[in-house]
Amino acid sequence: MKNIYADHAATTPVHPEAAKVMMDVMQDNFGNPSSIHTFGRKARQQLDRAREQLAHTIDASPDEIVFTSGGTEADNLAIIGYAEANKERGNHIITTKIEHHAVLHTCEKLERLGFKITYLPVNKEGFVQFEELKEAITDDTILITIMHGNNEVGTVQPISQIADLATENNIAFHTDAVQTYGLVPLNVEKIPVTMVSVSSHKINGPKGAGFLYVKKGTKLTPFLTGGEQEKKRRAGTENLAAAAGFAKAAEIAFEERESRFNFYKSLSGHFLEALQSEEVPFEVNGPAAGKLPHITNIFLPNIQVESFLVHLDLSGIAASSGSACTAGSVEPSHVLSAMFADPKRAASSVRFSFGKDNTVDQMKYMAAEIRKIMARITTV
Ligand SMILES: Cc1ncc(COP(=O)(O)O)c(C=O)c1O
Repeated sequence: MKNIYADHAATTPVHPEAAKVMMDVMQDNFGNPSSIHTFGRKARQQLDRAREQLAHTIDASPDEIVFTSGGTEADNLAIIGYAEANKERGNHIITTKIEHHAVLHTCEKLERLGFKITYLPVNKEGFVQFEELKEAITDDTILITIMHGNNEVGTVQPISQIADLATENNIAFHTDAVQTYGLVPLNVEKIPVTMVSVSSHKINGPKGAGFLYVKKGTKLTPFLTGGEQEKKRRAGTENLAAAAGFAKAAEIAFEERESRFNFYKSLSGHFLEALQSEEVPFEVNGPAAGKLPHITNIFLPNIQVESFLVHLDLSGIAASSGSACTAGSVEPSHVLSAMFADPKRAASSVRFSFGKDNTVDQMKYMAAEIRKIMARITTV
């Protein structure tokens, strides 16, 4: 058995139906959505349709959706755009130590510009402690940015409770929902979030596409300046083919949401059972409950993760040591370092993340290969 892709938290293959929609757009609907002639209007109609479809998935209104080049840009626009537009109200932002670098490095940038940032710790399961969040709020706090689901260990934060706390304190709340979108429902009518970041390529849509939900009435300074696209919130000709492909992928992901959730959960269960049957010594990083079903991060004592991943690759298995940004480098995972005091834990942990084309047989094969590799390379 070869070519097992178990790195879906990094990216997913494009769904054939999304790819077809994109090809059709590129061949038949090339107009600029801002042009007023027939070609432009046809493109505008398709862009509007994609925006409506995507807005519908989170119960937003279409004009609350700002198309971006992906999750990273959505996070940057949310945090920098909000901080800049609201700085007269205060200069304090609260986030966590386990955010994606698209959030962490953006907060660090604001810190250099004079903002104060609180990086909240998490417990061993990756959860933020609500009391600590409450205590971190000051009169100067203008924004809380806490991710919905973590991309390395899958912990899903109680964002409804956090959103309520932010609302009570008149603070904006942004959540990075890149990993939860299409798996864990987020209804902006029910949960009072101010901004939500979403990426297309985690749900079998094309790379380089995403959106930021921005609640009506939110003051945001755009950081791309130029034309008046996206209601002046993000300049630049929209990537229509990507937006249409993204909308198609989202339509399918939401139709299949429950079955995908249960399927990934069962795959993870089979994988852990197979590891036990193979007598592989391991511990799961992440919570027992309140977790994304497609991400299984395991600590394999005494392995060195970089060489382990090379051996896995030679066995035809693609997995990862954490977020795509840290893969390939020897930097220990900031997420595992925040969860565990022991630095060995971060150096010996592997993330497997599953998608719609994985099978139970693949789970068994992976466990058997892991046993063989561990026997070969374990350093005591
Ligand atoms: C939680 C999270 N946020 C943001 C991003 C960045 O998204 P994109 O790759 O679309 O820029 C990722 C991608 O790995 C992610 O997992």
